[in-house]
Amino acid sequence: MKKIIIAGAGGMLGEAFYNEFKNDYNLTCTDIDVNESWLIYNDFRNFESYKELCYKVNPDILIHLGAHTDLEFCEVNREEAYNTNTISVENATLISNELDIPLVYVSTAGIFDGKKDSYDDWDKPNPLCVYARTKYLGEEYVVKNCRRYFVFRAGWMMGGHKKDKKFIYKIINQIKAGAKELHVVDDKNGTPTYTVDFARNVKHLINKDLFGVYNLVCGGLTSRFEVAAEILRILNLDSKIKLQKVNSEHFAKEYFVERPKSERLVNKKLDLRGLNIMRDWKEALVEYLSDVNLNE
Ligand SMILES: NC(=O)c1ccc[n+]([C@@H]2O[C@H](COP(=O)([O-])OP(=O)(O)OC[C@H]3O[C@@H](n4cnc5c(N)ncnc54)[C@H](OP(=O)(O)O)[C@@H]3O)[C@@H](O)[C@H]2O)c1
Repeated sequence: MKKIIIAGAGGMLGEAFYNEFKNDYNLTCTDIDVNESWLIYNDFRNFESYKELCYKVNPDILIHLGAHTDLEFCEVNREEAYNTNTISVENATLISNELDIPLVYVSTAGIFDGKKDSYDDWDKPNPLCVYARTKYLGEEYVVKNCRRYFVFRAGWMMGGHKKDKKFIYKIINQIKAGAKELHVVDDKNGTPTYTVDFARNVKHLINKDLFGVYNLVCGGLTSRFEVAAEILRILNLDSKIKLQKVNSEHFAKEYFVERPKSERLVNKKLDLRGLNIMRDWKEALVEYLSDVNLNE
């Protein structure tokens, strides 16, 4: 069995990677938040300890997954954001070059400025906030310096239930709390990305030598408002809960960081190579919500 290190695997995407890869690879999964029995502690900001772990395991592939993903946290804790989202990626690049193994790095649709309606793999990023800049600098470093790499850009992540800190569970948690009306922005567009599909498509590519930068999101271009409406429809709550359209100003205090109007990605490169196995976001959302527990 080939060996893989998944660094920063304690979050929503890490769980999907663990489940997708565990039967076919010998995995070493790390995080600073050791919240599962299959995780061990390692802080990837620390070059020496990251390198020591990698030399000890001697993996065939290094997947550098973790990051600080809270935009407001990154904006006010800049050094922490650069250390976690950029410096650690430089560490991963140096280590994978030393071990002569491929590096997998996960970037984000948020690196674009949202002036276009959608972005393909070759569009030019222009990050608007600290989080986006730290992620893009990581991407740039990998592309310029890593001998063999995959950079996969994800969109609006959904998956992991209790680990889901993002939009789907912000809606689900309001429903659980008994909300009869939901305020949802109608001025933000994007492409949902189911963690399960994302991990599956990464596995589909990882042993092919087709290194490079790839957009990797579910099919279908949508908006926050449409996603919220779809959640209510799938859960049969559309006649019981009212959706109220608002614009981003409504949440300006809570979400004070500038977000692009559009974070829509299209997997053009994967399509051209015939390697896009991502499902449509609505189909993925049905699967994700099939085991949601609203009474928990
Ligand atoms: N979530 C999204 O919507 C989204 C969209 C596009 C791209 N991405 C990218 O996808 C990747 C996975 O994100 P996710 O959604 O799974 O985020 P997540 O749920 O927040 O998980 C990230 C994990 O990384 C860990 N981590 C943070 N600093 C670390 C360090 N120094 N050493 C080791 N582990 C560390 C975190 O621990 P703590 O919880 O203790 O901080 C957390 O367990 C990230 O690179 C992210 O930028 C995410």
